[in-house]
Parts: sequence; C-alpha cells; structure tokens
Amino acid sequence: MVTPDSAKAAGLSRAELEAFWMPYSGNRQFKDNPRMIVAAEGCYFRSADGRRVFDSCSGLYCSGYGHNRPEIATAVKEQLAQLDYSPGFQFGQPKAFQLANRLTSLTPAGLDYAFFCNSGSEAADTSLKMAKAYWRLKGQATKTRFIGRARAYHGVNFGGTSLGGISANRKLYGQLADADHLSATLLPENAFTRGLPVHGIELAEELEALVALHDASNIAAVIIEPYSGSGGVILPPRGYLQRIRDICTRHDILLIFDEVITGFARTGENFGADAFGVIPDIMNLAKGLTNGAIPMGAVVATPEIYATFMANGGPEYLIEFPHGYTYSAHPVACAAGLAALDVFENDGMVRRCRDLSQYFEDAVHSLKGLPRIVDIRSFGLIAGIQIEAVPGEPARRPFEISMQAWEKGLYLRYGGDVITLAPPFVSEKRDIDFTVEVLKAAVSSLD
Ligand SMILES: Cc1ncc(COP(=O)(O)O)c(C=O)c1O
Repeated sequence: MVTPDSAKAAGLSRAELEAFWMPYSGNRQFKDNPRMIVAAEGCYFRSADGRRVFDSCSGLYCSGYGHNRPEIATAVKEQLAQLDYSPGFQFGQPKAFQLANRLTSLTPAGLDYAFFCNSGSEAADTSLKMAKAYWRLKGQATKTRFIGRARAYHGVNFGGTSLGGISANRKLYGQLADADHLSATLLPENAFTRGLPVHGIELAEELEALVALHDASNIAAVIIEPYSGSGGVILPPRGYLQRIRDICTRHDILLIFDEVITGFARTGENFGADAFGVIPDIMNLAKGLTNGAIPMGAVVATPEIYATFMANGGPEYLIEFPHGYTYSAHPVACAAGLAALDVFENDGMVRRCRDLSQYFEDAVHSLKGLPRIVDIRSFGLIAGIQIEAVPGEPARRPFEISMQAWEKGLYLRYGGDVITLAPPFVSEKRDIDFTVEVLKAAVSSLD
C-alpha cells in the first residue's frame, strides 16, 4: 500500500492520529492506513503524499461546483473581515435576509420562508419540530406521528435517526422518536434501470395503510428524500411521489422533502421537486447551499405554515417558533451561500449537470455484466452501483474497491454494498472515463 506514509507526509505521527475520534469512519483501520487529504482544486483532491485524486462524490455530495471556488473563498474572507459573528436571536444581519430571498426565489412557488441551520441533520430535526408545532398551533395537537422510509437517511440527530431507515445507523440507539416506515422502492424487476423505474408505484399505497392504522388525526408529516442518496441511490418509481403527495393532501398530512442531496442541480433541475414535478410543504436543504465550503442548512416552508406561527405567537414581542441555533444564519455561512448561488446561476450548474448526465449514465451502465455487480441505478449526476454482498460481511467489497481506488487516484464513496458516484457538475468526460476504468479494474479483481 502507498498510504501508510500519508500521515507522515502530513507531518503527523501514528500517536498523533489517536485523539481525533473520526465521524462515520473505521477509526482503527484508518489510523493504521491513513488517507490524508491536504488540498483541493476543481474536481481533484491532493493527498498528503502529493497525488491528484479525482473526487467522484463531490466530497460528500456537497461540492458539486468544484472545490476552492475563488468566488466563495473571497466572499468568506471579506465577510470574516467585516462581521465575523452577530447574534441571530432578536437581531439580524443583512445577508441572512438577502440569502432567504435568493433561496426562496429559487425554490418552487409556494415555498417562501427559509429557516437557517447548520447541517442536513439539523434541517431534519428542525422540519420535524416545525411540523409538530404547526399542528398544535392549529389546534390539532394529536397529530404527532411521523412517517419515514426504509433505507432513508435524514442525518444523525434524534429525529433524523428515528425517521431514517438504514439499520446500521439505528441499531445502537434503541427506541428514539415514534416513527413508522414505508418500504424502500427497491424492486428486483427494476434492476439496471436508467432514470426512474417503471415498477412500484403501488408501494405508495402503504401510506394509505398507515393512515388507516393510526388515523390521519395522529399523523403530523411524511418525510422522504425525492430519491434516497446515502441509502444507495434508490429512485422513486414513476408516479410514486405524486401518489404520496396526493395521499398527504387528502389526509391533511404535511409532506417534507429532504433535498439535502437532490437540491442544487444534482437531478438536472434546481431541486428534486422540480425534476419530479411534486411540491412538498417543507423542503430541507444543506450541502450544495454553500457548495460545502461552510456548514449550513435550511428548511423552507409554505406561507401557510409561517402564517400559522405568526397568527398564534401571542404578543408581538414574543418568539413564535422557540427554535434556532447559535449559528443559524451565521454571517460567514450566508456570505458563502450567496456566493455559491452566484456560481450556481452564473456558471449554469443545472445545464452542466444535464450536459454531462447522458455521458455519465452510459459510462456507468457500461459496467453492467461485470461479475459481482447486481444492479446499477442512475439519475442526473448520481449513480448507485450495487455489489453482491459477502455473506456476513456487509460493505466488505465496496470497502476493498474504495481502498484500491484511492491508491489509483480516485476517491470513491460507498454506503453498505452500494458504491455511489456523484461527481462535480464541472467534471470532464475524461474524469468519468477514469472513474469507470478504475472501478472496472477494482471490481474485476474481487474474489
Ligand atoms: C438526505 C440527507 N439528509 C440529511 C443528511 C445529513 O446532513 P449532514 O451530514 O449535513 O447533517 C444527509 C447527509 O448525507 C442526507 O443525504
């Protein structure tokens, strides 16, 4: 392996790797085989040992416009020199309002009020609290139950963990919030589908069954990702999201779209809601909002929801929604967000995603037929390549593939037994070719 020197190259000894408890990482394996990233530019990282590494997942789906965008770096630097921090409770700073206006002019009509937080996980929990409080303020305090989906990912806070459906993320924590889960829309008859699968619209009827079981008077909201990203790129069957929308509307249940991955061009439209033609009542955003440069999340809600809080807030000096973070609408994050939106619009990220998607889809699906590849799913600039699992050793093969790829100059992300490709929108065709070549070699070397 070339990697053991990686920490040394970064000026760190083995002992110095110990104190940092790494998130979502195999700490023991990493610390014995460190893979250090010390710089980035465009679609490439630079490893501590001086290699260029293609970023095939836009970091963690967040840096779609390419790394180290000078527009964002300059905006952040200038903001830090002007106003590094100001309290967001009971006081404002102009960029928060500017960003809310810019953002809500981009989100679908009817999603007009932006509440800021710092991550996708905070967006999930914020949206769930908002939904519960909304019904209570409307005098329907029994509407408290939430419905998520199997294989979903809504981050790691209490609400998001409860509504998420990836068992490895849930099993250590026992019972959290009350939640039911619809099935994932992953059907064998849809294997190797390009774009939205044909089969499975009937899975939406599970929501009717849950309404029949609990009664709509007890259900606050359904939260779903337009497609599940971290759960393995699981796409909605044609018509499925509309059916879910119709059921929610019919029974007065709020629909929350978690667009933390699907937002900001990854689908070839501004948002998944635009790509799939279905508008939720609440939309959660993060990642692409600042192109990953500064942590930030947002929850965008309808005027009806906002107005309900305002109308029931008591005397005007009182707080209508007792919720918020020290760093909600942080001035530096807002500056990064505004600059990222400039890049998004000026550099035509939606167009760039569309221009590359067909090439990407063809390249990824050329892996079909390799042994151990049991499914390939793709939409816009995301694809999931499902590897046959080793019995009793979940994610073993994707881990091995990812380690091989790193040595060959490719950063690969996987979740469970699915390798997920989500390259930057500014990738070149040769980057896609390189990714597929490395994958081909690594998959072919599996036993
Ligand atoms: C759909 C979705 N929701 C929420 C999150 C959590 O975001 P964060 O890691 O910023 O808390 C993620 C992260 O991948 C995500 O994909």
